Amino acid sequence: MRAAPANPPIYNIEKIRGDFPALQELMRGKPLAYLDNAATTQKPQAVLDVIQNYYVSSNANIHRAVHLLAQRATEAYESAREKTRQFLNAERASECVFVRGTTEAVNLAANAYARPRLKPGDEIVVSAMEHHSNIVPWQLVCQATGARLRVIPMNNRGELIMEEYEALLNEKTQIVSVVHVSNALGTVNPVREIGRMAHEHGAVFMVDGAQAVQHMRVDVQELNADFYAFSGHKLYGPTGIGILYGKHEHLESMEPYEGGGEMILSVSFEKTTYNDPPHKFEAGTPNIAGAAALEAALDYVMSLGVERIAAHEKRLLEYAHETLSFNRRVQLVGTAAEKASVISFVMDSAHPHDIGTILDSDGVAIRTGHHCAQPAMERLGVPATARASIGLYNTTEDIDALARSLNKVAEIFG
Ligand code: ALA
Repeated sequence: MRAAPANPPIYNIEKIRGDFPALQELMRGKPLAYLDNAATTQKPQAVLDVIQNYYVSSNANIHRAVHLLAQRATEAYESAREKTRQFLNAERASECVFVRGTTEAVNLAANAYARPRLKPGDEIVVSAMEHHSNIVPWQLVCQATGARLRVIPMNNRGELIMEEYEALLNEKTQIVSVVHVSNALGTVNPVREIGRMAHEHGAVFMVDGAQAVQHMRVDVQELNADFYAFSGHKLYGPTGIGILYGKHEHLESMEPYEGGGEMILSVSFEKTTYNDPPHKFEAGTPNIAGAAALEAALDYVMSLGVERIAAHEKRLLEYAHETLSFNRRVQLVGTAAEKASVISFVMDSAHPHDIGTILDSDGVAIRTGHHCAQPAMERLGVPATARASIGLYNTTEDIDALARSLNKVAEIFG
């Protein structure tokens, strides 16, 4: 009997890559090594087909007319909501509000939940590694209410310092909003524990899951998150669609976010009454095709299995760390014990934008800059990094292409 290979394939990667038309493209005459998945992911044909088919055979407005197209559109939209419920293991589909993406989700929670409730002296806690979209909406709430923003510090590896977090919590803490996986560093935060501690102090707990749901199993009931946000386009779905999960009791008690059609029960000049959640937060014609395509993306990820995706990506991340360690000029930024997908680095001789440009000429797509996480960059003493980020379709060949191109950078910049 032949011995099993040391690393049996987790899934049929060639077949999977065949599902993504963009991966077949040549970039600057070279095979594409797409390693910018934290910015956005490529889309499988199944998602592209749903968008096309929706506009061909189901396009109508939802919740409004009785004709067949309207029924199909409404079914597609609400079916996507139910699929999202399953994906997050939410208790009710109505706890999943369609939004444009994570940014809008945080703004919704900040404006509709926090702003009417907070008063001068109250505190909102975020972490030192937040994306700007989980900082600025809370700063705006602080400006409007007189509340104060507190920040959980991180260590030099890019891990939150839990003792310092504990010391920040007090009777004034109203909201704790923390990123699940850092887009700039790849750190996986202990969100269950962070949430437990927030709740012990009576605070409401929100998680920015934009970089998490595509890499690991997320169960909002198990996490006991009050709010959880993610974007469709980082999960192999289209841009312009995302989810704010909110516990029923919160959504029910919240003020509307925007006014307009769909979010009302009745309107008169004297008095307007509002629809139930989630419709109360979905004013106007929503992104119906986007929701339908999000369902296709969720189907794709769920049929592959989030755990298997996580195992494949973990193996690749380890391979990347090992492979890049041979290039003495590459210095990792973010070396947390728990990491997912992201390899952020600097090379003392080359600016990240130069690295990105040379890699691009080799068909290797990465992101360079501050990654909309300027406070995290400042804390770690770098203005910017080069960032490769792994998705479900990446291969060791992609990592090898990255490593080869970085050797070239090292040669050019000496
Ligand atoms: N937030 C996205 C990123 O990290 C755009 O690149």
